[in-house]
Amino acid sequence: MNEPDAPTPTIVIFGASGDLTRRKLMPALYNLYCKGRIPASTRIVGFARSDYSHDAFRQEMRAGVKEHSDRYGEDDWAAFSRNLYYSPGNPNSVEDFRRLDALVAELEGERAAGRLYYLATPPQLYPAVATMLGQANMHGESEHWRRVVIEKPFGADLSSACELNEKVHAVFKERQVYRIDHYLGKETVQNVSVFRFANAIFEPIWSRNYVDCVQISVLETVTVGRRAGYYDQAGVLRDMFQNHLLQLLTLIAMEPPAALNAQALRNEKVKVLSAVRPIAPGRLREHAVQAQYRSYRDEPGVAPRSRTPTYAAVKLHIDNWRWQGVPFYLRSGKALAERKTRIAVQFKRPPHTLFALKPGEKLAPNILAMEIQPDESIYLTFQAKVPDVGIAMQNVNFNFHYASAFGGDAIPDAYERLLLDALHGDASLFTRSDEIELAWGLIDPIAAGLSDPDAPPLEFYEEGSAGPTGAQQLLARDGFEWVM
Ligand code: BG6
Repeated sequence: MNEPDAPTPTIVIFGASGDLTRRKLMPALYNLYCKGRIPASTRIVGFARSDYSHDAFRQEMRAGVKEHSDRYGEDDWAAFSRNLYYSPGNPNSVEDFRRLDALVAELEGERAAGRLYYLATPPQLYPAVATMLGQANMHGESEHWRRVVIEKPFGADLSSACELNEKVHAVFKERQVYRIDHYLGKETVQNVSVFRFANAIFEPIWSRNYVDCVQISVLETVTVGRRAGYYDQAGVLRDMFQNHLLQLLTLIAMEPPAALNAQALRNEKVKVLSAVRPIAPGRLREHAVQAQYRSYRDEPGVAPRSRTPTYAAVKLHIDNWRWQGVPFYLRSGKALAERKTRIAVQFKRPPHTLFALKPGEKLAPNILAMEIQPDESIYLTFQAKVPDVGIAMQNVNFNFHYASAFGGDAIPDAYERLLLDALHGDASLFTRSDEIELAWGLIDPIAAGLSDPDAPPLEFYEEGSAGPTGAQQLLARDGFEWVM
């Protein structure tokens, strides 16, 4: 931890009375404090419309941390919460921002340092908050760094994302902007790069020469619950594919970056997104499946005849040397039987089979599966001889299991890592403006195409089921099936 009189950063959270602050940000900051990862005197200032005093804000946050951090302890909380403050205000009022600035300056006193502005407000307020930070002159870096973290969704489509980028860039330079995709903060997602680039044996086979297909699944058991106001407009493509699934795809498909820094890493990810083949209008039926869970229209706030997909499966191709001809299948849905995020790389079968197989039987392909959550692990399947029965084979696997290797509580919440990186000025795990725009450029035509008359029909699936049959057929047409 820092010396007591060392300059310490200030974190200002806009939207401090909201759910994200209570559930994720404050517990993550508290955990970082307990682990000694942030200076003990880091100041955290909440800003929102609610009329809290400093103490009332501390009480609210205490309830959130108690519920969502398993490190909660009265003494630690008392020490941590001494540095929590609150400034009520309207996100459209420059006077309120000046008052906030004055409070922060007073708290900083002689020990002014960098400031992290975290935008956890409803997305429609992002432009206003960025603009007000500029008008109140809170963005300049003449003395200390200023960074702005922007939560997802970053725009609702390509044009709104470009507009938001413009508004943000009118105040902040790109290097000051940290766009969150919390999937990038997950330990197991970061391990994709370690797995690929810190081991020499996988990279030579990581291409069209050996890989038959790649599958990325983000399956959820949760329903939309009380989020219909947002979700019924967004749907699964904008909510999950534009960000999380495309980010996973870039990490699996990118070339090894020349260095491990934000610029080099994001350049490679941008190259992947630029190489994804747009789905030609009129070919959507061959490439996509859309579905809705049966009770979705009964959720509070969902339009009674809503056609918003809560499940989608999409087949993409990447037009470059490494991946030409290899299909990437992406699927995600809510209200499913199990929660699982998994990347499966399926390798080609042996070109010639020595062993007797039954008529129509094929050797099972080798599959390398990265289980991102909930049971974090990596396994590789292969054929083994069953003992004592001539040549009979069975699919078995090598398995690496995070909890067994590193202990059960080794995996921190993604927000801890992301907050820490933003405080340290490392933007590697945040999305750059061109990445965001390319991702929207890919998703927009698919999302728009799904409401066309020649789009794949909207299927319905039972809550708690494995999802729509169309998703199985999408792969079956190419001779594949989803890795279960
Ligand atoms: C969010 C989506 O970005 O990610 C939610 O808006 C989704 O709809 C959530 O439930 C999934 O995140 P995780 O970390 O639970 O897989």
